[in-house]
Amino acid sequence: METGQRPSDGSGDDRPIVGLGLVNKDFVARVPAWERDTKTNASVYFEQVGGPVPVALTALARLGAPGPVVFLGVVGDDRDGDELACALADEGVDAAHLVRVPGASTSKSLVVLDERDGARSVANYAGGLPPLTLSPAHEALLARARLLHLDGRDLPAGLRAAEIVQSNGGLVSLDLGTMRPGREALLARCDIVLASRKGGAGAFPEVADAPAEQVERFLRLGASVAGVTLGAAGSVVGVHEGGPPIHLPAFAPPGPVVDTCGAGDLFHGAFLWAYLSGRDPRAAADFAQAAVALRTTRLGNEAGLPARAEVEAFLASTPVRA
Ligand SMILES: Nc1ncnc2c1ncn2[C@@H]1O[C@H](COP(=O)(O)OP(=O)(O)OP(=O)(O)O)[C@@H](O)[C@H]1O
Ligand SMILES: [Mg+2]
Repeated sequence: METGQRPSDGSGDDRPIVGLGLVNKDFVARVPAWERDTKTNASVYFEQVGGPVPVALTALARLGAPGPVVFLGVVGDDRDGDELACALADEGVDAAHLVRVPGASTSKSLVVLDERDGARSVANYAGGLPPLTLSPAHEALLARARLLHLDGRDLPAGLRAAEIVQSNGGLVSLDLGTMRPGREALLARCDIVLASRKGGAGAFPEVADAPAEQVERFLRLGASVAGVTLGAAGSVVGVHEGGPPIHLPAFAPPGPVVDTCGAGDLFHGAFLWAYLSGRDPRAAADFAQAAVALRTTRLGNEAGLPARAEVEAFLASTPVRA
């Protein structure tokens, strides 16, 4: 599949990078231990922008995207919706195309971080929000996009957006966190498919424990680059006609792990940044893994999403593989 859209030096292209998917407000509490049916005091509380695509776009913008970064999604016309739009704009992500639904409540996630290992438990509520419908302005934006990043939600809009972007020479990327009915159609339309462990197993239950085989299958369905992320065990990445997929162990975080929330979302943003900058997909995956290793030692996206120089310095320090 054609991947010639990537400039070799990461510069000189002002076509937008567009993301389409769920955005939610995260309400995050850090507790000494997370047990069912107990009461405990949180040691830290904060709120942040959440959702696979918005976090990936924020990471891309922070790393230094070559052109505008634009988010398409749906929020309510409530205060959380206002705050998300402002927070995205503050991070350099254009939220002017957000659809505000009168009377609807913006999506929310309760996130609990367990102090023992930084593990996150999440309950999301997006009830009452209708799916995104593409407007003529959205379609015009997509026709100029250099890359579209999707999370598989709002499927009809996602499929249509992918079609517009690809027919105008752009790339389409998918964060397959969970496989759901209908997403097969998207798999055949994506240039870059990176699944979570759950997403890979859900797509191919008959090889649920074989991420390398899942990667091969994503490539056979049409992706030019595919991968499965395995949490602290790293990732498996393959390239169309590029030989067997390879396992890249994760990097050991350079300190205690305090927050793994959004690790996968950041992985996508950092991978896409590195890939668009001309790096080989495996080097791009390692760049992403390095970004996540740093992120896990910090609380929250605002303080935690790393800058490019930090990731480069970490990689240059020959970090240990976990
Ligand atoms: N504890 C950890 N230590 C080091 N690296 C990690 C850790 N957790 C995640 N990573 C890195 O981040 C990548 C993505 O993580 P993971 O596979 O957990 O994403 P995910 O399942 O999509 O999770 P989510 O989207 O909920 O954050 C991994 O491939 C790995 O490189
Ligand atoms: Mg994920």
